[in-house]
Amino acid sequence: MNERVHVALPGRAYDVEIGPGLLGQTGAFIAPLLKRPRVVVISDETVAGLHLETLRDGLSAAAISMESLILPAGEGTKCWSELMRCVEWLLDQEVERGDVVVAFGGGVIGDLVGFAAAILRRGVRFVQIPTSLLAQVDSSVGGKTGINTHHGKNLVGAFHQPSLVLADTAVLGTLKPRDFLAGYGEVVKYGLLGDADFFDWLEQNGPDLADGNGVARVEAVRRSVQMKADIVMRDETEQGERALLNLGHTFGHALEAATGYSDRLLHGEGVAIGCALAFELSARMGLCAQEAPSRVRAHLRDMGMKVDLSDIEGDLPDAKALLALMGQDKKVVEGQLRFILARSIGASFVTGDVAKADVLALLDDALAQR
Ligand code: GLY
Repeated sequence: MNERVHVALPGRAYDVEIGPGLLGQTGAFIAPLLKRPRVVVISDETVAGLHLETLRDGLSAAAISMESLILPAGEGTKCWSELMRCVEWLLDQEVERGDVVVAFGGGVIGDLVGFAAAILRRGVRFVQIPTSLLAQVDSSVGGKTGINTHHGKNLVGAFHQPSLVLADTAVLGTLKPRDFLAGYGEVVKYGLLGDADFFDWLEQNGPDLADGNGVARVEAVRRSVQMKADIVMRDETEQGERALLNLGHTFGHALEAATGYSDRLLHGEGVAIGCALAFELSARMGLCAQEAPSRVRAHLRDMGMKVDLSDIEGDLPDAKALLALMGQDKKVVEGQLRFILARSIGASFVTGDVAKADVLALLDDALAQR
């Protein structure tokens, strides 16, 4: 039941392999990329504790040796000092232009290690082995790499496409339910932004997915990755359409900043709440029927996900302060916020044409329900 999605970017095409148990076959997948039978792997403590030996076995089955660097788990690792540590370690390992670096972990490791590979010797190839649902359906595909600074998330980075992505869906079985559901926020995003049939399918199959149905998991990852690949092939560097992938992110990033990028709100949870807010704003602006935000919220609730600002524990800043946090978003153009809004489920679009007063009113009402 393995699936493959091809990302046909001219001169840097690659495959995303999806299926249960791929880790054990890593060597067979990677061998064609290697000039010498050795890879360097960067991972985090959590993923390494659970899966590093399986990866080592998968590589040694094809007589490929591996050296590894294990970093602390968590968003704090996506920073300048860990980037420096990665790059210096890769140089210590005498990684050459022809070698391949492996990013083995969730979105934090993928973004950080991808960026280290992008700047090491002006660019070495890298392979993404994403272990979280969020990384499998979103961050490992499409070549966005980078780190956070004290100014905000993902503000320093580079486009650097991987040479291969191996999404072992069996690994998702070791995720905590909360982390799985946070990643599911990104899966729902794909249905909402461009594929109403997929959203229907998720309404039917979402609970099964969460319960561990392996066939449904492969299908959800495949459909998400196919949508992402199609968009990235048309707009690799986000001149237009790729911005649709940020549905829910303008609100989500502000909420993440307001909660200190902490355990109070995971990225995918912020995206899910952000999607609900984006649909609510669309309905208030008369762009879509009220039925659409109601359906979005109902599905997120069915899945046991965070939907409202009242689902975030602790204090939140007021609407004005949240709006100011949105101003830090990378999607600001000439000082104007851009939003991803929707005409219906599966029909989203990018616009800068949103009155600040409408956003403030939406946030005021959402905060009042806390
Ligand atoms: N995660 C959004 C993008 O890759 O464009």
